[in-house]
Amino acid sequence: MNPEASDPLLGPPPIWPIEITRGRNDRVWSADGRMFYDFYGGHAVALTGHTHKHVRRMVARQMRKLIFYSTSSGLEIRNRAARALVQKLPPGLGHVFFSNSGAEANENALKIAIQLTGRKGLLAFEGSFHGRTLLALSVTDDPGIRDPFRDLGPPVEFLPFADQAVLEKVDFRSAAAVIVEPIQSMGGIRMADPAWYRRLIERAHEAGCLVIFDEIQTGLGRTGDWFFSGGAGMVPDLLTLAKGLGSGIPVAATAFRDDLAASLKPHDLGSTFGGGPTAMAALVATLEVLESERCIPHAQTLGSRLADGIRAHAGYEPLGRGLLIGLKTTGLARPLGEKLFHEGFLVGLSRDPRVLRLLPPLTLRERSVDRFLEALDRIPTP
Ligand SMILES: Cc1ncc(COP(=O)(O)O)c(C=O)c1O
Repeated sequence: MNPEASDPLLGPPPIWPIEITRGRNDRVWSADGRMFYDFYGGHAVALTGHTHKHVRRMVARQMRKLIFYSTSSGLEIRNRAARALVQKLPPGLGHVFFSNSGAEANENALKIAIQLTGRKGLLAFEGSFHGRTLLALSVTDDPGIRDPFRDLGPPVEFLPFADQAVLEKVDFRSAAAVIVEPIQSMGGIRMADPAWYRRLIERAHEAGCLVIFDEIQTGLGRTGDWFFSGGAGMVPDLLTLAKGLGSGIPVAATAFRDDLAASLKPHDLGSTFGGGPTAMAALVATLEVLESERCIPHAQTLGSRLADGIRAHAGYEPLGRGLLIGLKTTGLARPLGEKLFHEGFLVGLSRDPRVLRLLPPLTLRERSVDRFLEALDRIPTP
């Protein structure tokens, strides 16, 4: 019998042998009293750091008034959240639908793309991760979790990521949508040449195929712009968000190009919990913190400082942009991650055995970056 069989809890086992009991900005503390610098950010969720005062206050104030009401009723805080979010989105993406997780945000984007184009096929990229619901899983390049359901999903073609020549050969005409993570995170912090994204959008549009940017990790300032797409002057047809959108309170969004939104019928989208007042208060507070604490330029500055420090070590190479960083080692990522854990740092793995992921809060302190680089100095390079 599996030794864990008596444990009622299902799901992936913890990465680290600790129980986290509290957090403050870019640090967390474990039940046995140890302190860790959180360069994993609770899986890129702690965008405004842990337990930010403004988020806590706004959520508490909202909870005192009304914890939840569904879309059966209008809510001032929901309207305010939608207005605040679309102001930040690339121009032309003027409408949002709120849900609760990244998978749902992508599920809704893919579903609506299929509905509006009347096409069944989808295009995605090798190395992608988009979530675990049926459509999102169908476009996720992880056979281990996807294949049992492959026959239930739509026909999906996986294309090599960042390959310009492939874009010229692919037939986009039978695809409802092509979905892309602008920087593949789980895939090992892989990004393409700026011309590649532009050509992708061009080629898809020539053939009437919609373009979905999954900005669940790249959005909301992490890559040094409000959105990777907007920062590069690109506007996808649909854009999805989750992770840090509510600073840890579950909230996700699917943004629509205005003309697509105009062709939706009122009941094409729906969710019991999506757009609930507590989540909306967390969203508004998160955007306010990102703005008032100038988190986006900060992500650029500290991202460069981290990348330069990583580059200074023989055997390590920084990947990514802003505070979505891959630490590529000529050795193996896992033992390096374990050594960093013993030095008091939480970092993430990826599906590339040579790449560690750093996804810290955008409120990361300079001195935490310095501590991290000092810890790297103490660990023998491969
Ligand atoms: C790029 C990307 N898309 C989608 C998802 C799915 O999000 P969720 O786990 O909230 O369903 C993730 C989660 O890691 C992700 O990184």
